[in-house]
Amino acid sequence: MLFNFGGESEIRTHDRLAPMPVFKTGAFNRSAISPFSIDFPCKIVYYSILHMSNNNFEIQHITFEQIQSIWKENLWPSRETNEIKTHSSMKFMQGYDMKIYESIATYFSIVNNGKIVAVNSGFQTAKYEYRSRGLFVFPEYRKRGIGKQILLATIEQAVKERSRLIWSFPRTNSLQTYQSVGFVQCSEIIYEDVISGPNCYVKLEL
Ligand SMILES: CC(C)(COP(=O)(O)OP(=O)(O)OC[C@H]1O[C@@H](n2cnc3c(N)ncnc32)[C@H](O)[C@@H]1OP(=O)(O)O)[C@@H](O)C(=O)NCCC(=O)NCCS
Repeated sequence: MLFNFGGESEIRTHDRLAPMPVFKTGAFNRSAISPFSIDFPCKIVYYSILHMSNNNFEIQHITFEQIQSIWKENLWPSRETNEIKTHSSMKFMQGYDMKIYESIATYFSIVNNGKIVAVNSGFQTAKYEYRSRGLFVFPEYRKRGIGKQILLATIEQAVKERSRLIWSFPRTNSLQTYQSVGFVQCSEIIYEDVISGPNCYVKLEL
């Protein structure tokens, strides 16, 4: 599967075993989003993040406690803090599996001049299967490609962990951001038993 986003770039290559690159982001003019292509038949990921002038956006890993407080305040205010866990036990498409809590979660942020402006997390939900969970961009930073960039970093981590599929269960209001990096909707819109929905399943085969 091949995804290409136009624009000039610095392109490096690495195989799926390479360490996660440290992205210097900043291509938040959406017309200049970086190219990102995945060609799995040869198991090579090509990625690029544009280095724009006058920007100080950087992807950084953060702790669970940091992301938990951002999630609590902004994404899931109706949940008690202790109900917001490191992982979710949801499986892809149906059911739950408590073993998911044993996987290593990665908590991503995009930082601008020392301030966290976006967060997301990712973890394996089965062998070769990775979930993106908890995407949030602060309102004043939206519509500049930041959601897209943090999803690209999450995909990169899924690849690093040798996943063959990345999935999520986004609210429909973030569906377009997921679709913009290649995810496809793979369920009906679900209205019942969802806290801040409606939601639907999306997936991207790697
Ligand atoms: C959804 C959210 C993460 C999007 O972040 P963002 O930084 O504004 O997204 P981007 O700028 O990277 O957008 C990527 C693409 O999605 C589109 N998009 C983003 N939000 C959109 C919206 N509300 N309606 C329509 N299109 C939208 C953009 O136009 C862009 O498309 P393009 O690349 O084809 O031009 C952000 O609005 C948010 O945090 N919302 C509230 C929390 C939330 O609902 N999180 C999801 C929980 S599952």
